[in-house]
Amino acid sequence: MLKFIVLADIHIVPAGRLSNGLDTTSRLNAAVDFVNANHADADFVIFAGDLADRGEAEAYARFQAAIQRLQPRAYLTLGNHDDRPTFLRHFGAHHAGETGNVDHVVDIKGHRIIILDSSDPAAGGSGVLEPSQLDWLRARLDEARDRPVIIVLHHNITKFHTQNDFIILRDHAGFGEIVASHPDIRQVISGHVHMTVSGTYKGIAFCTLAGCHYSIEPTLESLSGPVPAPVPRREGPGEIAVVLSDGDSTVVHMEKFLDRHLVMAQEFFVRT
Ligand SMILES: [Fe+2]
Repeated sequence: MLKFIVLADIHIVPAGRLSNGLDTTSRLNAAVDFVNANHADADFVIFAGDLADRGEAEAYARFQAAIQRLQPRAYLTLGNHDDRPTFLRHFGAHHAGETGNVDHVVDIKGHRIIILDSSDPAAGGSGVLEPSQLDWLRARLDEARDRPVIIVLHHNITKFHTQNDFIILRDHAGFGEIVASHPDIRQVISGHVHMTVSGTYKGIAFCTLAGCHYSIEPTLESLSGPVPAPVPRREGPGEIAVVLSDGDSTVVHMEKFLDRHLVMAQEFFVRT
């Protein structure tokens, strides 16, 4: 049985600062403790982007220090809050794959896991997979037509009919077309939206985890008008995804390492 963990939306800031009023480093430490206590037997952990809140070198140093204690090995990729050049300067150029992005492929226990870097600082919070990455993805899928594949990336791959639909993965139609050509895609797992959602897109099963930062209350668009603003954000839960997969089935458990859900003051979301 393959077992791995996905964490997302870590949003580490330099020492002495908070991110939207939250101490994100202590939340990451709590997540690391939770994984070590409950899932030290996992094959690996994926950090699915937004490792840093604003992409600072000091934030990556704090992130790296915090995950030293993690018992399973870690794979990293980036989200819209990250800064790829700063990340690669800190962690090393070997984290970039052949397209220059922080993509990985992991073959383990009869599965292929594909981890994609959808960050693009020019995309205003949306996700982007460059044409070279889509070609790379198609090739990695074609090589693995004989086994199940699970894909992990920061951005969600379809609209959720909620307030953050304007920052999903761009060209998700192209991504979906490529992915749907594989005969055994088990899951596409994302963070980014700070909410727990599951469904299908073009027949592909997906889920998103609420992640390590604040949670967003899903505020559904109405048929008669736009989503009301502001939307409630809550200080919890802190949530990880636990993925269990074998030849027949893939199961994703959303587990809470923090379980407080108070609505946060709106002042924490005024951009400075
Ligand atoms: Fe994000």
